[in-house]
Amino acid sequence: MSKRPSYYITTAISYVNGLPHLGHAYEAISADAMARFKRLDGYNVFFLTGTDEHGQKVEKSAIEAGEDPLIFCDGNADAFRQMTHLLNISNDDFIRTTEQRHIRASQSIWNNLWDAGDIYLGKYAGWYSVRDEAYFEEAELVIDPDDPKKKIAPSGASVEWVEEPSYFFKLSSYTQPLLDYYEANPEFILPESRKNEIINFVKQGLRDLSISRTTFKWGVPVPSDEAHIMYVWLDALTNYITALGFPDKSQNINKDSEVFTMETHWPADLHIIGKDIVRFHAVYWPAFLMSAKLPVPKRIFGHGFLNVEGEKMSKSLGNVISAQDLVEEFGLDEIRYFLLREVPYGQDGSFSRESIIQRINADLANDLGNLAQRCLSFIYKNCDGAIPFPDEFNGDDKKLLESSIILLSDIRNYFEKQAFHNGLEVVWGLVSECNIYIDRQAPWGLREKNPERMKTVLYVGAEVIRRISIIIQPVMPAAGAKLLDQLGVPDKDRDFKALNSDIRIQPGAKILKPEGVFPRFVEK
Ligand code: MSP
Repeated sequence: MSKRPSYYITTAISYVNGLPHLGHAYEAISADAMARFKRLDGYNVFFLTGTDEHGQKVEKSAIEAGEDPLIFCDGNADAFRQMTHLLNISNDDFIRTTEQRHIRASQSIWNNLWDAGDIYLGKYAGWYSVRDEAYFEEAELVIDPDDPKKKIAPSGASVEWVEEPSYFFKLSSYTQPLLDYYEANPEFILPESRKNEIINFVKQGLRDLSISRTTFKWGVPVPSDEAHIMYVWLDALTNYITALGFPDKSQNINKDSEVFTMETHWPADLHIIGKDIVRFHAVYWPAFLMSAKLPVPKRIFGHGFLNVEGEKMSKSLGNVISAQDLVEEFGLDEIRYFLLREVPYGQDGSFSRESIIQRINADLANDLGNLAQRCLSFIYKNCDGAIPFPDEFNGDDKKLLESSIILLSDIRNYFEKQAFHNGLEVVWGLVSECNIYIDRQAPWGLREKNPERMKTVLYVGAEVIRRISIIIQPVMPAAGAKLLDQLGVPDKDRDFKALNSDIRIQPGAKILKPEGVFPRFVEK
């Protein structure tokens, strides 16, 4: 048996200063769709998510909550883990940066940077934003719209002046190597707009980066200088290699030791992150890796932000939406579909109740749900509850079957670029083609006068629904499985190999009594 190619995908790890919200859910769902797609497409996928638990921001929140930082982190990390269960996220590991394996990996990468001669001791005097956990140059700050005498970070976060002894990383030495890497790997940063921002930023020349703090304690100790803790972003970014057992190359200390190692899965194929943290991933992370003599990830994708009814989602505006509320009201696969279909991936997305209901009732209930329901119940009633045996295919049948065969390569092209919305659009193109076919062929009118032709039409309909059901699984795993159950497709025939052009649904296979998979949403 030939070895499966490997694929490594991650989300950002979330700060545990608060509870998960829809923005985190969006990121997890999109990464999950990609991970599931690759698994079905024959890859040995390692999919990582987790929590970022060190740093001033988390420490401050713990103090405000009157709790010991680790106990505080335990509670919120658990909420993020629960979110992965609620959303049916298929991650293979969940990393917490307070785990021993991560402290070991962070100190190891520090030692690598040190051995490369890229770390020196100095003093940091400048601005720091706790909310962004980022350093800012005076020139990068902007006027606070609420208080013109004050300057704030471009994100809107307040900044404080910091002066303390600090170790620095020689980021300036990596200006040219990074520019060369971007040029040689034009799809390293996507989407294109984010790539251009980063290239322009790096072209101005990079300054050395402060990578340790001394004024608080909640972090990974710097090896051989306990007065310092590591800058939270150096620690956080390292999570992506911790989970592969770094610094070990071919061993992994986690439960899946033999499968996911630095040797089998590094460099990562895709880091899915939000647009606000592209700089950390596309500048600092590759520079740290180059210094540590480790390969650089293949792609950083910076998705957009979700806004609610046209406004930014924020705790202070009181419009933070929990994924749980949406899932309870509308259903999980419905929300997964909505988020990936409605918002062009990479752009910001505004959404409202109306747009969710519209997608559920039009795309799911009306288009796909109705197609499956009418086709399968007609088969169930008129063909003894089994997939009928087809007669000769005519031109119309062949044309539709052909469209259903090329669907995989179309959707694959889009998913390879993380254009999930376009991928779903082509699937719904086929849904609509199949609905038109069934309307025109009108099998209900053929029962008496041409039952052989009726069976052929129903066979073609069932075959196209089989292909659609397999292909929607990454986005709607439960709904796809339910449709495949109804069609009587065995578990072993549900991956993308079953979409090869020579494979078709088995005539004679028993189907289940069809039940609506996508109910219409009716406002209570
Ligand atoms: N801890 C850092 C990431 C470290 S990765 C080595 C962090 N955490 S976060 O909790 O603030 O954000 C986690 C992810 O959620 C980020 O990719 C961020 O962009 C994303 N989102 C946070 N709010 C969001 C929206 N409103 N909409 C979409 N995604 C958003 O950053």
